[in-house]
Amino acid sequence: MAKTFIMDHPLIQHKLTILRDVNTASKEFRSLISEIATLMCYEATRDLPLKEVETTTPLCVAKTKVIAGKKLAFVPILRAGLGMVDGVVSLVPSARIGHIGLYRDPETLTPVEYYCKLPADIEHREVIVLDPMLATGGSAIDAITQIKLRKPMNIKFMCIIAAPEGLKALQEAHPDVEIYIGSLDDHLNDHGYIVPGLGDAGDRIFGTK
Ligand code: PRP
Ligand code: URA
Repeated sequence: MAKTFIMDHPLIQHKLTILRDVNTASKEFRSLISEIATLMCYEATRDLPLKEVETTTPLCVAKTKVIAGKKLAFVPILRAGLGMVDGVVSLVPSARIGHIGLYRDPETLTPVEYYCKLPADIEHREVIVLDPMLATGGSAIDAITQIKLRKPMNIKFMCIIAAPEGLKALQEAHPDVEIYIGSLDDHLNDHGYIVPGLGDAGDRIFGTK
């Protein structure tokens, strides 16, 4: 079973509290999603390999480190994953961005795919899949299955809030995928919403409800 990391950093926990608040409007909600994504990306890239280079400082030539050959691609799951892109790209500006369009059928809660465009050289890249919400796990499982067909070097999944049910399903379906979570919440309600959660992430980011 691949590792699962639950973020306990005070800055993430504080921002999450404001994010959950029903009175937080779209403008602030978008900023918070982006800021939390930046903080989580810092952790998710902790194991990137380094190589030594020589750098001429104003004082001498020094042996210093840069990130080695491994390249990154971020793949947001549409729509809500789009809200995390700015935040992660601010840390890794050279990363490529793929897109997977999925929505949950409101009756069956199963994901319906409507778009998939991934970087042409994805087999030479490590992929970090982005979605603020891991509820039943269906969307993340499907997205990762699609991405695996294109044989990237490695896949990680990053979500801001997860339900225990979705985490278990994702771990079982893709045991090789490392999972980064901002908060592991209590449970799913009868409509497949995470409790306490934050409501519908896509609607709150884009102000569609
Ligand atoms: C939300 C969320 C995830 C999915 C999680 O998207 O952004 O993609 O639900 O639920 P699951 O784990 O049960 O699959 P939604 O289907 O509401 O689509 P949207 O982002 O287009 O609003
Ligand atoms: N999708 C959301 O946006 N929120 C939930 O709580 C569950 C799925």
